[in-house]
Amino acid sequence: MPGLAGVPAARSRISDVDGQGGVLEYRGIRIEELASKSTFLETAFLLLFSRLPAHLELERFTADITRHRRIKFKIIDLIKCLPETGHPMDALQAAVAALGMFYPGRSVRDPENNYWSAVRLIAKLPTIVAAFARIRHGDDHVPPRDELSFSENFLYMLTERVPDRLVADILDVCLILHAEHTMNASTFCGLVTASTLADPYTVVASAIGALKGPLHGGANEEVMAMLREIGTVERVRPYVYAKLEKKEPIMGFGHRVYKVKDPRAVILQQLTRKLFAQYGKSPLYELVEEVERVGLELLAHKKVYPNVDFYSGIVYEQMGIPSDMFTPVFAMARVAGWLAHWLEQLQENKLYRPDQIYEGEHGRRYLPLDQRG
Ligand SMILES: CC(C)(COP(=O)(O)OP(=O)(O)OC[C@H]1O[C@@H](n2cnc3c(N)ncnc32)[C@H](O)[C@@H]1OP(=O)(O)O)[C@@H](O)C(=O)NCCC(=O)NCCS
Repeated sequence: MPGLAGVPAARSRISDVDGQGGVLEYRGIRIEELASKSTFLETAFLLLFSRLPAHLELERFTADITRHRRIKFKIIDLIKCLPETGHPMDALQAAVAALGMFYPGRSVRDPENNYWSAVRLIAKLPTIVAAFARIRHGDDHVPPRDELSFSENFLYMLTERVPDRLVADILDVCLILHAEHTMNASTFCGLVTASTLADPYTVVASAIGALKGPLHGGANEEVMAMLREIGTVERVRPYVYAKLEKKEPIMGFGHRVYKVKDPRAVILQQLTRKLFAQYGKSPLYELVEEVERVGLELLAHKKVYPNVDFYSGIVYEQMGIPSDMFTPVFAMARVAGWLAHWLEQLQENKLYRPDQIYEGEHGRRYLPLDQRG
């Protein structure tokens, strides 16, 4: 079965998608409810521990994450040694793998160790992402500030400015929307690594590697490239027609599972409107709306609708996040889902060792070098 399409890779209780109904649930709670009522850290707790935290539990979890946001100076030094032209996902993967070297030999069978590993990874990913974004331009790393919320602090570490409340709240919703999505490529990759009983830093480093590819995490960056290529509202219709004529995809449209509009795209579209109502419309906003209008006209009959990546790029750009940092921001959110799957895998671990269909030859003779043609 190419790509294991339709083959269940695990039993899971973490999230579920109804692609026909356009429903996404984390631990049975609909994404719309979490996006409007929860925070990223509360949602991360829900994913990890399968229930919403009580008041004191949430306070403790938030305080633990806040306390672990700092990264060791050796990790900063490592980031300084990376080429500034390198992709931020490679920097993130290298730094996360290195992070594990500071916490060696801790058994993954000990729930206490596993709690602290999850806390460290959720807490430190934004610090690593922001540090690379600044250091590659020759700027200093901006250390985290404890009084700022998770999302406020990330934008502060990235831009050295405390963001407006609305902007930080919208980023927090974006992180909720990206925190988990059933058995996708990066989650599966993390699970395979987890099944060898590797440490969680290695699990997350593997998942980051899988997320980097353009078929998985990179589509929102490509939506922004498409909008820039189109340039003006008048050019949208000819551009979309030409793409479809050449049988090329409109980026940010279509999904393997959703055959209606992705529920996360619906929420992001509302957030985009809110953001641009507050800060004034950018030319890109008008373009994105026109691409959706024309795209729907031509693709809805094939059940191809905007996906989560269609609006996320334009939201991140308005926040001052550089476009090659979109996938690292995705990783900052998805680490919660990866870790939830890692913990679930450990409950009844079985080493992944799939079969294959061998199509090669048997019984060939080894020819010495001087007898080969
Ligand atoms: C995600 C994606 C790979 C899913 O592809 P898929 O599962 O093969 O899609 P479907 O089988 O539902 O496609 C049905 C039809 O719609 C077309 N289609 C799907 N997505 C399309 C898109 N983005 N633009 C134009 N046509 C598209 C297919 O070519 C196919 O046409 P056909 O029946 O004439 O051959 C695909 O939609 C895509 O490449 N999208 C753009 C990249 C993107 O935004 N990725 C992020 C996903 S979250």
